[in-house]
Amino acid sequence: MKKFLALTLALGMTASLAACGGGGTTSTPAPTDAGAAVSESGGEGGSASGGQKIGISMPTQSLERWNRDGSYLDQQFQAAGYETIVTYSDNDTNRQVNDIQNMIAEDVDLLVVAAIDGEALNTVMNEAGEAGIPIIAYDRLIMNDNVSYYVSFDNYSVGTLQGQYIVDALDLENQAGPFNIELTAGDPADNNAPYFFNGAMDVLQKYIDDGKLVVVSGQTDFDTVATAAWDSQTAMERAQNILASYYADGTQVDAWLCSNDSTALGVTQAIQSDYAGSNSVIITGQDGDEANLKNIVDGVQSMTVYKAVANEAVVTLDLAQAILNGDTIDDSLISNSGWDFECSYDTESYATSEGHNCPSFLLVPDVVTADNMVEKLVDTGYYTQDADGYLQAAG
Ligand code: BGC
Repeated sequence: MKKFLALTLALGMTASLAACGGGGTTSTPAPTDAGAAVSESGGEGGSASGGQKIGISMPTQSLERWNRDGSYLDQQFQAAGYETIVTYSDNDTNRQVNDIQNMIAEDVDLLVVAAIDGEALNTVMNEAGEAGIPIIAYDRLIMNDNVSYYVSFDNYSVGTLQGQYIVDALDLENQAGPFNIELTAGDPADNNAPYFFNGAMDVLQKYIDDGKLVVVSGQTDFDTVATAAWDSQTAMERAQNILASYYADGTQVDAWLCSNDSTALGVTQAIQSDYAGSNSVIITGQDGDEANLKNIVDGVQSMTVYKAVANEAVVTLDLAQAILNGDTIDDSLISNSGWDFECSYDTESYATSEGHNCPSFLLVPDVVTADNMVEKLVDTGYYTQDADGYLQAAG
């Protein structure tokens, strides 16, 4: 068994500590949005990766999943013998540009970037390209042709799973309705957000057209229902306005499509504080954030689309290694990988500019409800369950 010692240098205001042992990481770095952490690791007798350095740029620590992504990526790259620089940019695009520029100045060998704004990293992506640094767009596509590869989940099917959940829960195939629904989508700056929304609407639209589903507020276009920065408070305030304007007379809302857990959290709060009705509203989500899993256990959120970000990190590491080894990259990465999860290689669905498709590795999302939560999340080791039945993400 290989052991890795980690030496952590602090840059900026915060230090983080990481140590790996027995092929796994024994402590998780927790840099804050206030600073960057540079962790250096090396294997006993030298590592296979020869001390190459990976820059990992995450959008923010204010949303739970990016903390998990940042720490999984950091752990996995370090365990494979790479040095890492991990930054979280506080949902501030200028800050992310700056963070990535610092990584380029630190001579990273490869960049892994989850963009805050897919359109706003052009200059720094060009700088990375000029420096010959390969770029993996992580989870969110960046609209720049210097991006070498994209690793994500099938974003469109996240939306179709949410839409189909609502169709099934209301039994729309058999019930005449009409049922009332409202819609809350994600951040327009995030390239993923329209994929989620369009996936859901492609399932729901036919029932809206048939009159079985009614969007009482009339708010159906993406820009109107979008939520800047995926912010819970913003989602809550919009939901409160809708409830006050369209449901205060006792009109029942049956379902509320929410593209992810942070928006679902806001909508759930609005339902709890400002909804006159007593029915339980079907509310969708995405990510499996702890607060939302608690709401699912408590019956105030119906489902979440879970994306095993630990596996997204595994794909990213294996892809990065293949890029750095100069291997030919195609679907053989998947067939040769030995991964015990599904992933597809897609060269058609995601373009960084017109006519320039970005080869993508897409993992498969999964629906989690109160009924299958233990099987999907606890038995698989992603979460532990406490005595009250609530789940905590496994360290
Ligand atoms: C991710 C989602 C996440 C959202 C907000 C999206 O790009 O794919 O998993 O809920 O950002 O952080």
